[in-house]
Amino acid sequence: MGIPKRVAIFVSGTGSLLEAMIPQKDELGIVLVLADRPCRGLEIARAAGIETELVKRTDFNPKRFDAERDVYTLRILQILIGCQIDLVAMAGFMTILHRVIFERGFKGRILNTHPALLPMFKGNHVVLDAILAGVKVTGCTVHVATEVRDEGPILAQKAVDVLPNDTVETLWERIKVVERVLYPKTILEYAATLK
Ligand code: GAR
Repeated sequence: MGIPKRVAIFVSGTGSLLEAMIPQKDELGIVLVLADRPCRGLEIARAAGIETELVKRTDFNPKRFDAERDVYTLRILQILIGCQIDLVAMAGFMTILHRVIFERGFKGRILNTHPALLPMFKGNHVVLDAILAGVKVTGCTVHVATEVRDEGPILAQKAVDVLPNDTVETLWERIKVVERVLYPKTILEYAATLK
């Protein structure tokens, strides 16, 4: 492989996917972890000596966030450009960004991992949705993110069986076990295709 791309990971929560990537952080080229709220993901990054940025959504008026999504997204774009980021990987990032980031500088350069087999089960609560739908198999999807949520070219998928007594917690954890391997592998493969 050539020179690693400069990769930013976007997090909002426990950051267990990020944590799983830490041993490979140099190979993956992770140079920045950005969060939309204080979270364990930021702590993991700091402990690993990775630069962090917190762009709090609450710095914007929550009632007017839809109207301010573009300003929020432009602030993130500035940070990415300042850090010379080539590729973004969202890992449990819970803010929907304005289309400007997908259309301009980072078109085709933002990846996402989703805890279901797209195009089935889009949106929030998809692990619960899979259980309620009674499906026997769900899984995870790594895809190129676009301005349309949970859409964009699918790069990789893995199935996970739904067991009779599964709760959201047990099923989601088994899905995450798969994501922790599939996501870094797919990021590396995708980064290698970028100029
Ligand atoms: C992962 O399962 C990821 O697919 C999901 O959040 C989890 C992050 O786990 N992403 C979404 O639901 C995005 N809509 P983590 O915080 O433990 O790394």
